[in-house]
Amino acid sequence: MSPRWSAVSLAAALVAGFASQAHADAIDRRIDALMRKMTLEDKIGQVTLASIAEVFDYDKVTSGAYGNVMNFGTAPEFAKVLAAWRKSRLKIPLLHGTDIIYGNRTLFVPPLGQAASFDLALNRAASEQAALESVAAGTNWTYAPMVDLNRDPRWGRVVEGAGEDVHLASCLAGARVEGLRAGGLVATAKHFVAYGFGEGGRDYDAVEMGEPFLRDRVLPPFRAAIAAGAQTVMSSFNAFNGVPATANRHLLDDILRRDMKFRGLVTSDWGAIDQLKNHGLSPDPLDLTVATFNAGVDLDMASDFFRKYLPTAIAQGKVSKARLDEAVRRVLRVKFEADLEKRMHLDPEAAKAAQAKLDRRGREIAIEMGRRTTLLLHNPKDRLPLAGVKRLAVVGGLADSPRDHMGPHPALSQMGDIVTLRAAITERAAKAGASVDYLAACGACRFPAETDEATIADAAKAAGEADVIVVVVGETYEESGEAAARADLALSAPQVKLVEALAATGKPVVVLLTGGRPMLVETIIDKVDAIAMVWFPGTYGAIGAAEVLFGDVSPSARLPLTWPRSTGQLPLSYDRLPTGRPASADDKWTNKYIDIAWTPRFPFGYGLSYGTTTVSAPRLDKATAKAEDTVKVVVSVTNSGRMAVRETVQVYVNDVIASRSRPSRELKGYAQVDLAPGETREVAVPIRIASLGFHVEDGSYVVEPGTFRVFAGKDATAEAFTDLEVTSGSKVPPWAAPIPCVDRDEAAKPGKRP
Ligand code: BGC
Repeated sequence: MSPRWSAVSLAAALVAGFASQAHADAIDRRIDALMRKMTLEDKIGQVTLASIAEVFDYDKVTSGAYGNVMNFGTAPEFAKVLAAWRKSRLKIPLLHGTDIIYGNRTLFVPPLGQAASFDLALNRAASEQAALESVAAGTNWTYAPMVDLNRDPRWGRVVEGAGEDVHLASCLAGARVEGLRAGGLVATAKHFVAYGFGEGGRDYDAVEMGEPFLRDRVLPPFRAAIAAGAQTVMSSFNAFNGVPATANRHLLDDILRRDMKFRGLVTSDWGAIDQLKNHGLSPDPLDLTVATFNAGVDLDMASDFFRKYLPTAIAQGKVSKARLDEAVRRVLRVKFEADLEKRMHLDPEAAKAAQAKLDRRGREIAIEMGRRTTLLLHNPKDRLPLAGVKRLAVVGGLADSPRDHMGPHPALSQMGDIVTLRAAITERAAKAGASVDYLAACGACRFPAETDEATIADAAKAAGEADVIVVVVGETYEESGEAAARADLALSAPQVKLVEALAATGKPVVVLLTGGRPMLVETIIDKVDAIAMVWFPGTYGAIGAAEVLFGDVSPSARLPLTWPRSTGQLPLSYDRLPTGRPASADDKWTNKYIDIAWTPRFPFGYGLSYGTTTVSAPRLDKATAKAEDTVKVVVSVTNSGRMAVRETVQVYVNDVIASRSRPSRELKGYAQVDLAPGETREVAVPIRIASLGFHVEDGSYVVEPGTFRVFAGKDATAEAFTDLEVTSGSKVPPWAAPIPCVDRDEAAKPGKRP
């Protein structure tokens, strides 16, 4: 950043600061005036969030007892709520929330797949489109993005997040919030906190975690989401260090509000206050209400406890009126800051029409998402892209199952709109003059009952007539998402049998994996010619995937999480702490397994392009730096292949000697670069020295002077490095710790020339 630019942006920030302070003061005055008119029931209504139900009491919207609603996703449904609201005395706008996880009418590839694009602008655009498609029917709030980091893909909700890395997850958290807000939704950072670290990958399970780790690894994506304007935070279902997050004052007050300076509202998760009885907190709903509300939860999602028990809690002095006023103020501030008054009307016919037609922009983004998220994992003989094929066999029911293309969160998308892999490949093949035989084989082939040997043998025989076989296997939509933890990430026995039977034909076999997490490929990898992950392709993602298969575009996706060889390796991430006995093939007494390699199948950041790109050893624009400096890590990237490619240059840093044990490497920046065939380009990735620190026990954040090893390359195993000497350190309180990737537009722009 040049000094001139710093001065300009500082001036702009000051003006914006004054403007936003004046705006905030005006909102506070409005809140004061409104609160003077509110009864106790009105106030408790504001901290209540009621969900659509078969029998929904619309009169409670009119009386103000329900001050917020959720899941009235279609215009006719929300119109009924509005009709009731129009009769209310104070006409305080309602927050109307729903889960918009990866699209609404148009479905994109789910968030974990989107993360594989490493493309912030594309993620921002998809979130904005999802929001635009939702506001038409009156939704003004969403429970997204999920910013939970995860190192154990046994957890089904890994599909909703950004993977395992703090830097990438923080970049994406910010980009997604910006997109949702630009499209008109209040965004929620969820789930606070550490929900992705449940024991054994089981959903809702307890988490034990040290606070330095929490602050280094788990909080930064929340901080990035809040910095980008997430006005709400959802507390998580899990217990954290022995106290359920929903009733955890230390998390919500000390960490979220004091240290992270969060000013918005905290909502509970679905029914979580009621479920505290199962945590053993108390059998008494009154106690649970008091514990949660006093811990800092401002809004009760779907337990209806605040509405029922806060009056008694206040009458008995267990909850103060001041605490109620504080929560109400937070809710009202979110509503006024988001201008929700202007959104409390709906033209059901117009909204219905908007939802009925698919939007062209959504289609373009979804296809581009398909291109940018198709992750080529294995292609040793360059069998992809498909060339000179006259007859193609597409095998496996997952290739032609619209519902499975939609993944676990279909929102308002419609099955009839889904372009399946079968359809997209058939259409693209036709352009290449190739015909396609589709063979359902054993359907999704997930369950042993589907192992009909004869069906598999018939499919293999028919597929053997083709020049190339594309087989689609992986997860069904029900095997991914919430409450879909898996104890074994292996492909199912019928799927493996199918792939083996196809491989036995001697014809080239390309495996497309669908699903929301890594799956084990050990049993098939040496038998097939190529493997690519296509996630859940959504409405149009298959079109982009088909373009990649036929070489219209080179694959550019990179893994946002480590891909294991075996479920027993989990949890697994590239940025683990070192041990005193690093794994060594020559020494038994080291950090490894005796029955499987210690390395993952594919490392974080990995993904193949068509052709070969090379990244040179890194050099620095300066070899020594101070805590407040930014250094540029410069590499040359060469495309020696015959196709245009997009490479993602990744920079990892290791603090060699420190007062705490430090990960052997951490991603600190990356840049995407488009290269024509034969082209070489120099790429500079800026790294802030302030981002190289860590948190200590008292919560403060330190950067220690000394040597930092800077690696650059194409994935987390990059070997080339150079050393950087940091000559001065710093120590700051938790709120002053740098948020990764706030300068995200400067980083990672595809094709940006340095
Ligand atoms: C999930 C949340 C979601 C909520 C509302 C819960 O079960 O944990 O992520 O936002 O339901 O649908």
